[in-house]
Amino acid sequence: MTTSQAAEFRVGDEHFELDGRPVRLLSGALHYFRVHEEQWDHRLGMLRAMGLNCVETYVPWNLHEPAPGTYHDVEALGRFLDAAARAGLWAIVRPGPYICAEWENGGLPHWVTGPLGVRARTCDPEYLRLVDRWFEALMPQVVAREIHRGGPVIMVQVENEYGSYGSDATYLRHVTDVLRDLGVEVPLFTSDGPEDHMLTGGSVPGVLATVNFGSDARTAFETLRRHQPAGPLMCMEYWCGWFSHWGGKEAARAPEDAAATLREILECGASVNIYMAHGGTNFAGWAGANRSGNLHDGELQPDVTSYDYDAPIDEQGRPTAKFWAFREVLAAYADGPLPELPPEPDQLTTPAEAALDAWAPLDDVLDALGGPETVTGAPPTFEDLDVDRGLVRYRFEVPGPRKAYPLSVRGLRDRAVVYVDGERAGVLTESAAVLETEVPGPAVVELWVESLGRVNYGPLVGEPKGITQGVLHERQYLHGVRARGLRLDAFDAGLGGLALRSPEGPTGLYTGTVQVAGAGDAWLELPGWTRGFVWVNGVNLGRYWSAGPQHALYVPGPVLREGDNEVWVLELEGAAAERAVLLS
Ligand code: GLA
Repeated sequence: MTTSQAAEFRVGDEHFELDGRPVRLLSGALHYFRVHEEQWDHRLGMLRAMGLNCVETYVPWNLHEPAPGTYHDVEALGRFLDAAARAGLWAIVRPGPYICAEWENGGLPHWVTGPLGVRARTCDPEYLRLVDRWFEALMPQVVAREIHRGGPVIMVQVENEYGSYGSDATYLRHVTDVLRDLGVEVPLFTSDGPEDHMLTGGSVPGVLATVNFGSDARTAFETLRRHQPAGPLMCMEYWCGWFSHWGGKEAARAPEDAAATLREILECGASVNIYMAHGGTNFAGWAGANRSGNLHDGELQPDVTSYDYDAPIDEQGRPTAKFWAFREVLAAYADGPLPELPPEPDQLTTPAEAALDAWAPLDDVLDALGGPETVTGAPPTFEDLDVDRGLVRYRFEVPGPRKAYPLSVRGLRDRAVVYVDGERAGVLTESAAVLETEVPGPAVVELWVESLGRVNYGPLVGEPKGITQGVLHERQYLHGVRARGLRLDAFDAGLGGLALRSPEGPTGLYTGTVQVAGAGDAWLELPGWTRGFVWVNGVNLGRYWSAGPQHALYVPGPVLREGDNEVWVLELEGAAAERAVLLS
């Protein structure tokens, strides 16, 4: 197969067709934003070696448009598509604007959902204006690389599982039309759960519908056929593994079972996109969250940093038993012998340990890197303060004299470490939001509120973070709040003028260096630390949390260098006594 020659890709009555010949798409999901760019070629080579002929990626709007009209490295998508072409793979692009994907807010920017709330993902004119502007900035990356222009892109998705969310046909039609208006000429498609209400809510007349599932392919395709009597069958997300939540169990699916469903899909004559072929990592606090329950409106379940997904190619790019099982199934559908696996990336040769011996308290970190302080009656949300990922310090004054009463938070999202007159008084969550000890007045109460990731699926996508209603003393709202946000991306430019001293605790920013010999892929552990974020050489590796099940963070080889490597740990609840981090 070659992707450097212009060809026509179309949706036939029964098959996908390339220059009139029937083709079957053997695709695998790999999100470029979850893999270090220097590792793209290796991972794409692994997809080829597993027997795939196509790669699929989402595009996260919130990563690329951090503030209205300000774009961050939109060209990354283009570079990734070029890498796909180099690897000899076709490409499917799923630009959203909503992507789900266990990604913060399902990819919607906080500055969209903050002001618009549930008007997002509808035909609300302001929402559509923002979508159009974003797609105008993004789509040239795709259009220039469509297959009839010699690029790898064969198909583009409209929205994402819209039928699991809404029923606004005008909105879906608008997304379809804007993609066409911006020059997308390859086939468009939608993807939905194989259920009547999902397919009727999420399909667009004249646009190919595909289905997403993890098992029971035959039934799923029968359902699809009821809604779409002709056209190629495709499972756009074959869930061969799953994701994990903090405080939950690590997701796993047996390779034989996963391979059996893959075989079943292919025996149905269908095309497939394996979700995920390689999951990668939710670096920099971009992991999303779920809400529990049938209606996805219960307890918050934040996603872990790893997006390994129990995929055939694991988080550090190695083949798993599932890889070999899938390769065997896929080999039967290949034109010739499958390519060899690319050489394995380097591994760290010697384990290393660092004691973090410099420190600054959170208040100083906020002074150096935080946003401006606001003073308002009712508390502002993260969205009001323009904080996407990070935390906010809220400071309230309890008037007095008055006797001790319970102090509670209404609408707390997600987690607050509380100080009363400078003394640590407890940790509150959305569902345990009353402080154990009653508080007398006068007193100064500080709540350091952290977002654990915005919901990416279900009716609560886009819900705001922070103190979204108020703080009560007995039944009385405490008004007059000073609030200050700390965005995680403030660290991207370094630590500014932050003055460091000998560590105290239990929270704050701890720094140190770790000596590395034989740099390569590594795992970072933080024994005894509680929860926060960790950076190596200025790269935010994501959230760590003693709640598990994840206990080590993936450090891509290209992040490490021979000799000294700088480590920063932003601990938000309780540092380890030894303040050590381990690399292995
Ligand atoms: C749905 C979404 C994907 C992803 C999977 C679960 O199918 O479309 O983005 O969230 O669920 O991993």
